[in-house]
Amino acid sequence: MFEGKKLSMIYDMDTDEKMYALKGIDFRLPDGGLVGIIGPSGSGKSTLMYCLSTLKYPTEGKIFYNGKELTAFSDREREQLRRQEFGFVFQKHYLVPYMSAVDNVMVAALRNEKAMREKAEAYLGRLGLKEREFYKKSSKLSGGQCQRVAIARAMINDPKVIFADEPTASLDHENAFLVMRILKEYAKDRLVLVVTHDRSILSDVDVLMEMWDGAISSMGERSMAE
Ligand SMILES: Nc1ncnc2c1ncn2[C@@H]1O[C@H](COP(=O)(O)OP(=O)(O)O)[C@@H](O)[C@H]1O
Ligand SMILES: [Mg+2]
Repeated sequence: MFEGKKLSMIYDMDTDEKMYALKGIDFRLPDGGLVGIIGPSGSGKSTLMYCLSTLKYPTEGKIFYNGKELTAFSDREREQLRRQEFGFVFQKHYLVPYMSAVDNVMVAALRNEKAMREKAEAYLGRLGLKEREFYKKSSKLSGGQCQRVAIARAMINDPKVIFADEPTASLDHENAFLVMRILKEYAKDRLVLVVTHDRSILSDVDVLMEMWDGAISSMGERSMAE
């Protein structure tokens, strides 16, 4: 589904020195499943994910999505693709504190219908929130609960791809594993990309891409990688 060809990202520094966050990488990602992208801080994981999800333009190279050249899309086409086909989860949940869990999910909903609201409630339930928590302000929920609301928000339009950048970094172990279980479940018939520097949460990935200093140091099915 995603293919990268000679992808480079250069961040201009104040000095003459150029900072290569991605160094001409080539790759092909599977059509579905849970893909883990692991590597130390600064290795280019987030940059890669933002290029794939159209939040950033690579400096050089091409990205193909279902055979179409994503890097040739207009800003408008990129925005449409993001809204219709992609979902995002970040390290911080970015919920609106004075809005309820359900309303925070509905913020992202492409349609504001009763059926969507029911779906938001159903997702929150599946993610382990109690009914009495659905209409609590998010500022009254725990960190783990908020991250699960953020995941429901990412899933509300049934995106074909979920991009998750360090989704468990601000969670304790129990909640981190719960979040990974939810993402794994979603990845049964979709593509989920999870960026992390924490190897312990990636025991269940289908494909593991390892990054080192702007390059892919290894990539393979988990069963082969282990
Ligand atoms: N906006 C930016 N401006 C300048 N340098 C950046 C910017 N974003 C990232 N970098 C640099 O690019 C490299 C890769 O960063 P990043 O993709 O965030 O890595 P990771 O997610 O693996 O920690 C790092 O050296 C980082 O400092
Ligand atoms: Mg990062």
